[in-house]
Amino acid sequence: MHAEAAKEPDQPPTAGGGVGRRGLLAGGAVAAAGLGAGAAALALGGGSARGDGSGRAAPPPSEPSIVPFHGERQAGVIAPQQPATQLLALDLAPAATSDGRAALRALLGELTRVLAAAAGAGVADPRLRDGRPAGFNSVLGVGPGLAARLGLNVPAGLLTELPAFPGDRLDPARGGGDLVVQLCASDRWPLSVAAEQAVAAARTAGATVRWTQSGFLPRTAGGATPRNLFGFKDGTANPVEPEAGQWVWGPPGPHEHGTVLVYRRIRMDTAAFAALPGDRQEQVMGRRLGDGAPLTGTAEHDEPDIYTKNPDGSYVLPATAHVRLSSPRLDGGARMLRRGYSYDDGPDDRGLLFCAFVRDPAQFTRVQNRLAARDSLNAFIEHTASAVAYVLPGVPAGGTLGEGLFG
Ligand code: HEM
Repeated sequence: MHAEAAKEPDQPPTAGGGVGRRGLLAGGAVAAAGLGAGAAALALGGGSARGDGSGRAAPPPSEPSIVPFHGERQAGVIAPQQPATQLLALDLAPAATSDGRAALRALLGELTRVLAAAAGAGVADPRLRDGRPAGFNSVLGVGPGLAARLGLNVPAGLLTELPAFPGDRLDPARGGGDLVVQLCASDRWPLSVAAEQAVAAARTAGATVRWTQSGFLPRTAGGATPRNLFGFKDGTANPVEPEAGQWVWGPPGPHEHGTVLVYRRIRMDTAAFAALPGDRQEQVMGRRLGDGAPLTGTAEHDEPDIYTKNPDGSYVLPATAHVRLSSPRLDGGARMLRRGYSYDDGPDDRGLLFCAFVRDPAQFTRVQNRLAARDSLNAFIEHTASAVAYVLPGVPAGGTLGEGLFG
């Protein structure tokens, strides 16, 4: 197992870090997704730029509040992105199918209890009681290996691992896993406490910790898109309804309020990238460093136009630019909900925890095949770990995550 030295992201709580204009619109889907007013308020709260031309001072960002744990969809996919994350992956002990299913049921019950309590929906650890609400939210998913072993009811695309991609340098000890848990909050404290409890529950059920990984975001005014370690705004072009219903969430049926998490730990050579002239960096990405606007537009949320040409016939968005190759226009309109985090595991191992939510892992595979073949970013990045998990539908109060797995 790879555990990491505890690091404090040194960030006071901010509300809604990482919720861009489109994200705010997506936040509007929070209520529709079965979450309460608290999360909706969180989604819409905060913001330092008034943007209404009134010249009045913007209200200060609001504090994170309690994000309801219960709802049709797990809060960790739909709540405004919080600045700190902790991922952990668990492996269940090999067992005969019936014993394995019983062990999984018991563990899912315990994890539901731990995660609900950490979110404030139950009697919490005293270490979580004194502080201010930290916007704690979580995601719990089931990996393909476990689903296949125990015959679980997961989407068909989740019964196999992701394929290998050119350039992958994956460390199996840092990826995969029978269960993947993502914890998010305004700071590391509640993550550490909740992770401790989740691990204790897992060990009681005979499971082991396969890997853990922490990540963070820069302090960002509410509503602004956070930057990655290359300095670019990351998370701008995320789907909103109705696109999210088509590309992020399952189709009507047992998986309707479930989704699939694709996790990639990607090392970034930030020094080499920083050594490029600014205009070259923008050509690599296809967006402007300052405001995040596509090279074909003037504002951050303008849609990148992959067809516009320069007078000399070359594309304005270069043929190998990251946003050209990841464009939904090359993929029948398919979009993924990206909620990435940066990580820092030492001077030579820093980068991006790419976390995307998709209906079908094939969406990721198609884009990653294009990126692996041609992306200009490849000279500066290396994929070092990978995991995929079926993110279970949410539960009403009193329910247990994953009840539909055994149908
Ligand atoms: C370290 C690696 C990566 C970095 C630094 C990075 C950075 C960025 C940035 C700055 C943008 C533009 C702003 C935005 O829309 O969020 C972007 C867009 C995007 N990236 Fe990445 N990315 C990385 C890896 C990946 C991977 C592995 C995938 C999927 C296979 C991916 C898929 C996308 C998609 C789908 C978009 C939006 C394209 C659009 O709709 O315009 N990225 N990325």
